[in-house]
Amino acid sequence: MHEPASMQPEMILQRVAEHLGQDDGAARDVLPAELRELQRELTRFRLRYKFALDEITTKLRILQEEFEQTHSHSPIEHVRTRLKSAESMMSKAMKRGCEPTLESIAEKIQDIAGARVVCPFISDVYWIKDMLAAQADVTILEVKDYIAAPKPNGYRSLHLILTIPVFLSDRTENVPVELQIRTIAMDFWASVDHQIHYKYDGAVPASLLEELSSAARTAGELDETMARLRGELRATENGTNGQYLA
Ligand code: GTP
Ligand code: MG
Repeated sequence: MHEPASMQPEMILQRVAEHLGQDDGAARDVLPAELRELQRELTRFRLRYKFALDEITTKLRILQEEFEQTHSHSPIEHVRTRLKSAESMMSKAMKRGCEPTLESIAEKIQDIAGARVVCPFISDVYWIKDMLAAQADVTILEVKDYIAAPKPNGYRSLHLILTIPVFLSDRTENVPVELQIRTIAMDFWASVDHQIHYKYDGAVPASLLEELSSAARTAGELDETMARLRGELRATENGTNGQYLA
């Protein structure tokens, strides 16, 4: 079993030693060059995930701009992307019992590139998913619909693992991206939930968990109310001025 760990220098030494199949003492002699090479390899490896985030960001921007041309609201409130740090990538790999190779990490860890899309309405969330799914170069590998089936703690969001081609000078790589699509209300809840768990480091008092769970229900009701109000607004605009159809 690997210990959960952050990537301390000692651990890098140990991993490199394991990687080289040598004992610590022997590995130490070759380390500076090996470490430099490892770092170069790691940088190259992470770059393709950064390019995948660039690609998905462009796709989302195009969808948003096009939608805004013909509708009375924007389907996207904001998009955030994050590239998993090398440290947290290695630590997740170790927790998962991954082989210490980049191939194995690439295969087992699918959230190295992460994008979060925050939408005003639930219908926008599914619209974004459908639009991406219809694109010929996007492959959806996995859908976790925590909106249809929220997590026991109340967490709601639509999670997709998709792959997107990245065209490099000598090859094309289909790179996985974890896309979380959620409404503003879901995002608000998730960010407070995250802060509370961070603050209490896993030991959140039961009363707070209860309040969070109740807040999740309130957020769900808010999404429903907003969808209904928007429906009414649309019906009104329909009757008065067609150019504002959404
Ligand atoms: P990991 O990727 O290892 O987390 O496991 P998984 O793939 O089973 O996770 P899942 O798809 O359920 O969630 C992945 C991401 O969703 C997390 O890294 C968080 O960003 C977010 N997430 C999932 N559950 C919660 C939750 O209860 N609260 C908050 N705030 N975020 C969550
Ligand atoms: Mg995940």
